[in-house]
Amino acid sequence: MILVTAANGNQGKLLLPRLLAAGHPVRASVRSEASAAALRELGVADVVVGDLADPGVLAKAVAGVEKIYHVGPTLSDSERSVGFAIVDAARAEGVRHFVMSSVLHAITTDLIQHEVKRDIEEHLLSSGLEFTILQPTNYMLAHRLKPAFERGVFELTWSLDRRQSLIDIGDIAEVAALVLGDTARHVGATYELASPGWYTAHDLAEIIARVIGRPVVAGELDVETFATRMFSDAAGADMTYRLQAMRAISARYSSNDFVGNPNVLTWLLGRTPTSFEDWVRIQHSHATPTVNDD
Ligand SMILES: NC(=O)c1ccc[n+]([C@@H]2O[C@H](COP(=O)([O-])OP(=O)(O)OC[C@H]3O[C@@H](n4cnc5c(N)ncnc54)[C@H](OP(=O)(O)O)[C@@H]3O)[C@@H](O)[C@H]2O)c1
Repeated sequence: MILVTAANGNQGKLLLPRLLAAGHPVRASVRSEASAAALRELGVADVVVGDLADPGVLAKAVAGVEKIYHVGPTLSDSERSVGFAIVDAARAEGVRHFVMSSVLHAITTDLIQHEVKRDIEEHLLSSGLEFTILQPTNYMLAHRLKPAFERGVFELTWSLDRRQSLIDIGDIAEVAALVLGDTARHVGATYELASPGWYTAHDLAEIIARVIGRPVVAGELDVETFATRMFSDAAGADMTYRLQAMRAISARYSSNDFVGNPNVLTWLLGRTPTSFEDWVRIQHSHATPTVNDD
């Protein structure tokens, strides 16, 4: 049995069908009944619903599992404590392989969500558990394309002239499935995951423009506007933490590039990773209504 946390999230939604198709028994952890229902639709029969910060929920999630794929809750002040608790619970349960989804350059501790992952990595390394750590760079995120497709503006909340590496979340899911499916091959490894290319916001806008055949310009958005747009439902304390984390991202990415190397990802996939341009092309084909000639 493989437990996947943040199971109805960006990674989980793409990983679970791969694990099911490979015949693995899976358990999913989500917070809401709505997400549980969505995963049951995907064919996941065993879903634990509730906040993983609740020890009772965590115990239910980890009971009897052989492997864990742990994705920490996005920009949540419980990420560190949940990460430590699930490592401890895994050790107590005798879990055979703990795969942690971390982040590229978790050692850059001026980024709050990196420092948290650095600490969880250290806790995992000191746990005696057999582990693999995946360190993906920034995701290629569909919501970032929406304003570009609709209004011709590609927006980021940091300097438009700093470069970043990106990764297709589908490629992360492919690697996660490979790692979970072959513990002996991947145990003890820490893999940095990035697709080829170091892009400024202007470079990314230019690529999107080429794909959609219309002009797209890069624009810098302030953190508060972006956070209100993305997290309108967040409670006060949650929003305070998210704003702190996002201001730190904005400061770090405005003073330093955030770039990695594609060699490890290429080796793991056994093919060239999905490029930003290929990914935009796929997203655009989904977003473009089919023309009916009749
Ligand atoms: N965005 C990036 O570019 C990037 C890059 C590298 C690493 N990361 C890291 O990747 C992680 C996020 O991965 P993701 O985007 O795949 O996940 P995600 O989409 O943010 O995950 C959402 C899922 O997590 C569940 N969830 C959230 N809080 C929970 C809690 N307290 N207890 C139980 N379930 C909870 C949600 O359940 P409900 O739907 O029921 O609420 C939902 O199923 C973060 O740690 C982030 O820092 C992100």
